[in-house]
Amino acid sequence: MPAAVDPDTATLTSLLTALPSSAHGVESVDRLMVWLPDHTGEYVVVLGPNLPIEEAVTLCERLRVSRPTISVVLVRHTLETHDLTAAMKAGARDVVTYDDHTALTGAVRRAHELYVALRGPTGALHTGKIVTVFSPKGGVGKTTMAVNLALALTDRGARRVCLVDLDLAFGDVAITLQLFPTHSIEQAVGSEDTLDEQMLTGLLTRHHDSLMVLAAPSHPDVHERITSALVQRVLRTLQESFDYVVVDTAPAFDEQTLAALDETDECVIVATLDVPTLKNVKVALETLEMLNVAQGHRHLLLNRADDAVGIGPDKVETILGMKVVTQIATAMDIAASTNAGNPIVSGSPGHPSSVALRRLATLLAGEPAAPDQPVLDASPGSEKPDKAERSSRRFKIRR
Ligand SMILES: Nc1ncnc2c1ncn2[C@@H]1O[C@H](COP(=O)(O)OP(=O)(O)OP(=O)(O)O)[C@@H](O)[C@H]1O
Ligand SMILES: [Mg+2]
Repeated sequence: MPAAVDPDTATLTSLLTALPSSAHGVESVDRLMVWLPDHTGEYVVVLGPNLPIEEAVTLCERLRVSRPTISVVLVRHTLETHDLTAAMKAGARDVVTYDDHTALTGAVRRAHELYVALRGPTGALHTGKIVTVFSPKGGVGKTTMAVNLALALTDRGARRVCLVDLDLAFGDVAITLQLFPTHSIEQAVGSEDTLDEQMLTGLLTRHHDSLMVLAAPSHPDVHERITSALVQRVLRTLQESFDYVVVDTAPAFDEQTLAALDETDECVIVATLDVPTLKNVKVALETLEMLNVAQGHRHLLLNRADDAVGIGPDKVETILGMKVVTQIATAMDIAASTNAGNPIVSGSPGHPSSVALRRLATLLAGEPAAPDQPVLDASPGSEKPDKAERSSRRFKIRR
């Protein structure tokens, strides 16, 4: 997917409109350099008109040697001969003017053709991971954890993440992030067979340069019109353009949640230290096992883990037969940051909860756990069934 760099947000937004809908925008070369190593299929970098020419030329020279399959397209307000000469010498593939979106679109298309010729047609294929945050109980912190985890997974712009609010009746992801979406999954109703990346991109709300949100409908009654086939289509489509798709869920095995679980690569189960929640989480874990959801990729997150209620994390592990992979204490800062619309991972990166959530993000990203970390759920058969096998499963459970 193309990446565009410009320090000015309005310019960046304008550039992105001329690029394929999966394009990623960052405001500095430093951020781009964090993004590129994780995106081996990158084929074009568009350098916006507000990036100083010296910086653009240096980057061209760097990429020409280190990533020769990436084309650099330089965008300038006006075409100056000395800029053109310097850019071409440094290896830029194209130079276009800012007001000529058609030229930019053409340059990006040619970059893709070149990439395909160099790497083969499958070189640009991309499949992101689906991470679902689930609990059978309400109010345990699913949304709080999903939002913070999604932000942690962006790794300050290095990865593209989409957060999907599948609490379709009472979703509060948007409000938690202080977003005011103009579109939601509601506009995709009826598009089970036709939804594509471009249409879906139009339904997303941008929170931060690498966190996009697919909001829940604003009215609870729309819930029933969102079919499991649509949920499947939405998630598979998002997977093609995002590195991670984080799904926040309703506290029930409703058909939409089941459809999401069926697509899930990594499942985070949220529990708290009270007996009714633990009883329901136990039943939920048995159900996930029976349905073969995310076998070997289920992670238990204990929220409010310090509540002095006579049950400790050890007891939880015994009751649930599963290791607690992440513990988050009760903290006023978490609730306050949620109320302020600035989740703790962004607002207080040094807070112990933020550190714990970033660690969980690292684990979900498949990077090795530090030796002192609790181990992952070691349920048998940690091989995940492939997509075709998983999609052939059909759920029989009803609420
Ligand atoms: N560790 C924590 N410390 C303090 N407050 C917390 C903590 N975790 C969550 N909260 C607060 O608890 C409330 C409920 O959290 P949240 O909305 O994330 O739960 P939920 O499981 O998504 O609920 P629902 O099932 O209704 O969607 C929120 O006000 C949130 O700020
Ligand atoms: Mg919630």
